[in-house]
Amino acid sequence: MQIREANIKDSEGIKSLHLQAFDDSEAKLVSDLAVNLLHEKSTIKIISLVAIYKDTVIGHVTFSPVFLDSTGKHFGYILAPLAVLPAHQNQGAGSKIVKHGLDTISSLGAFIVFVYGDPQYYSRFGFKKEPAQNFTPPYVLEYPEGWQAMKLNSAVFPEGSRLTCVNSLNDPQLW
Ligand SMILES: CC(C)(COP(=O)(O)OP(=O)(O)OC[C@H]1O[C@@H](n2cnc3c(N)ncnc32)[C@H](O)[C@@H]1OP(=O)(O)O)[C@@H](O)C(=O)NCCC(=O)NCCS
Repeated sequence: MQIREANIKDSEGIKSLHLQAFDDSEAKLVSDLAVNLLHEKSTIKIISLVAIYKDTVIGHVTFSPVFLDSTGKHFGYILAPLAVLPAHQNQGAGSKIVKHGLDTISSLGAFIVFVYGDPQYYSRFGFKKEPAQNFTPPYVLEYPEGWQAMKLNSAVFPEGSRLTCVNSLNDPQLW
């Protein structure tokens, strides 16, 4: 399995992967998000990674920048979406692609990374609820218990800040 940065030619593979990995209720929303993020141009680069096995996209993750609403300053990233093709799950691909992305954004100097997902899964990487508590997500969350974060590089963290995100994530249905 090889992990590399995704490019536009991976669009179909990424879309198909998310359509297969997620339940019908979420599959279209998430696969559209994955492809929109791949095409979006942001002032701070969006990191989209694919895991390739035998010329097939078997894993995908995106880290997109978040900004402080008060100042517009780039402050960290949010991990979304993440999926592994069902036939390749439980073999470590998800962990490998997430860790690769975390190393990438950490080396870019990111202070913090957020995720909105199952704490039972994301806790294995070090995501916790506490570091996220001071930051208000862009929309009201359907499952507030899924809002987590992990500090990557030391910084003076502002208290009680509201976050903004890239255009592709600006959809209340995703939160
Ligand atoms: C979540 C997902 C990306 C994990 O990918 P993966 O390649 O199977 O992950 P890994 O092989 O690195 O890790 C597998 C472990 O994660 C656990 N796991 C998977 N999904 C989980 C979940 N939702 N909650 C808790 N644990 C979960 C497995 O039980 C397994 O546990 P173990 O290590 O104790 O045996 C994959 O299951 C997937 O694509 N699921 C559907 C889409 C999805 O839910 N995406 C995440 C949205 S928040």
